[in-house]
Amino acid sequence: MANGKENEMKCRLCGETDLQLVIDLGKLPLSNSFLVSPHDPEELYPLRLVFCPECSLVQISETVPPEKLFSHYNYFSSMSQTMGAHAKDLVGKTIASRKLDEHSRVVELASNDGYLLQYFQQAGITNVLGIDPARNVAQVAIDKGVPTLCEFFNEQLAETLPKADVILALNVLGHVPDLNGFVRGIQKMLKSNGMAIVEVPYIRNLVECCEPDTVYFEHFSYFSLTSLINLFKWNGLIVARAKKIDIHGGSLRLWITHPTPFPPHDRYGVEGLREREVQLGVNRIEYYRWFPVQVDEMLRALKAKLLALKAQGKQIIAYGAAAKGVQLLNYLKMDSSVIDYVVDSTPAKIGRYLPGSRIKIVPPEQFGNPDCVLLTAWNFSAEIESKHPEFRGEWIMPNEKLQPTMEYA
Ligand code: TMP
Ligand code: ZN
Repeated sequence: MANGKENEMKCRLCGETDLQLVIDLGKLPLSNSFLVSPHDPEELYPLRLVFCPECSLVQISETVPPEKLFSHYNYFSSMSQTMGAHAKDLVGKTIASRKLDEHSRVVELASNDGYLLQYFQQAGITNVLGIDPARNVAQVAIDKGVPTLCEFFNEQLAETLPKADVILALNVLGHVPDLNGFVRGIQKMLKSNGMAIVEVPYIRNLVECCEPDTVYFEHFSYFSLTSLINLFKWNGLIVARAKKIDIHGGSLRLWITHPTPFPPHDRYGVEGLREREVQLGVNRIEYYRWFPVQVDEMLRALKAKLLALKAQGKQIIAYGAAAKGVQLLNYLKMDSSVIDYVVDSTPAKIGRYLPGSRIKIVPPEQFGNPDCVLLTAWNFSAEIESKHPEFRGEWIMPNEKLQPTMEYA
């Protein structure tokens, strides 16, 4: 229900002030602020999800300044074969369906270390540009020959750049404080016959597969198709096609164009997905009421399981110092008395400690000989398990409803 605090904030999409509380996850540190020492001080912020009854957007109620969150980023997309395979597949399909050639211009927003644009370059489409505000990852892209602007994308920046045939924005919309400004930027930079391809984690997976660990401060917004249609329509664009995909625990891929006088006949999946949301009530607060109850049950069951294993003398570790792992361990109030260490292959994370739980991060070579491994990066469980064929112990998923990504390598 709306309380005094929520009333002070406005929906970042439509400006509505009467936002309704979905879940209060407590006070937590920033999930990508890895600690150099387990004794480092930490700032905590309240993490709450609220629902906007006007436009259906779900968002967090506290906005941490983006400079604190994104100027130095520990996430390198190239670290995962799953993401690489996903990017390569998308690039191949896009080149074919848009009939791209050496004259085409492709821009990627939040281009990270160039993991995706490199596939366009390899296919001879060299007029590419990446835009990413995190200097350390942008530099990696530049070093491997992917032209990259180290900036936050917005309408003003879009006006200074040449128009593009294809604009890609994968897993970035949720991170954007000014959604309308960002989408107006896409509208300005997209050629009249161009196509933007957008991917976001899908709110139906968050709720129906119980994924509270995907809620963190870097993710300001959580999208249904209903809210996305509003976002693009209000900024002069249309959702021409929509599809559910299994990356990142369940996502939506959208194909965005300028409005056309000839709308596609079958609406390419948009109508069906939208109708299902209406049937389920995703556009009403009632749909979200069971979520906190399910989260509570899930966390209790998982905690009981881990503590029982520990009481039997088993050694438990975690795999994946992903933001969602940081969140899960903090929701569970776990520390190194239960989880000995967490394995992660990201050089920038190795040797550091997880925010909040202060568990040490070690490289895959130090996997050791544990009895049980909690798959904190459960979305990559197939890839992770394949890297440790010698492991005979138990892989533990945070809950049995989760849908890991199967399309990899
Ligand atoms: P993500 O779920 O936010 O994409 O993060 C995944 C994390 O898991 C990231 O820190 C890298 C790590 N990881 C490994 O350490 N080994 C692997 O094989 C994969 C796929 C991911
Ligand atoms: Zn709204």
